[in-house]
Amino acid sequence: MAKVKNINHVAIAVPDMEKALKFWEDALGLEMDHIEEVPTQKSKVAFITVGGSEVELIEPLTLDSGLAKYLSEKGPGMHHLCLEVDDLDGIITELKEKGVRLINEIPDILPGRKIVFIHPKASGGVLIELFQDIP
Ligand code: CO
Repeated sequence: MAKVKNINHVAIAVPDMEKALKFWEDALGLEMDHIEEVPTQKSKVAFITVGGSEVELIEPLTLDSGLAKYLSEKGPGMHHLCLEVDDLDGIITELKEKGVRLINEIPDILPGRKIVFIHPKASGGVLIELFQDIP
């Protein structure tokens, strides 16, 4: 069985990245590692280092994105939990065999990583991102 290694990050949906960063940096004294745009998700993400893991702030780039819809329905707050795995393709195969519903079965390839999402209906209400580092 493919292995889940750790909690890589917890993501928070924010309507205003600058305002959110101010809280994490100024109020909590944490440092942002980097910020990037994720065109496939129509979002902008900032990673804040918290010990050995990270908090990911996600802001929608367009009004028609899934994230914009999420924010207007549920408001800002916890969005997903990201688990790091050692063999994403292997886990996808296993999850499909077990009938676990995925949001995307083909991994999204981003700089340095590939990811898929497990549907919250399969996990009891939590959107779960599975993440594998790629060189
Ligand atoms: Co994430």
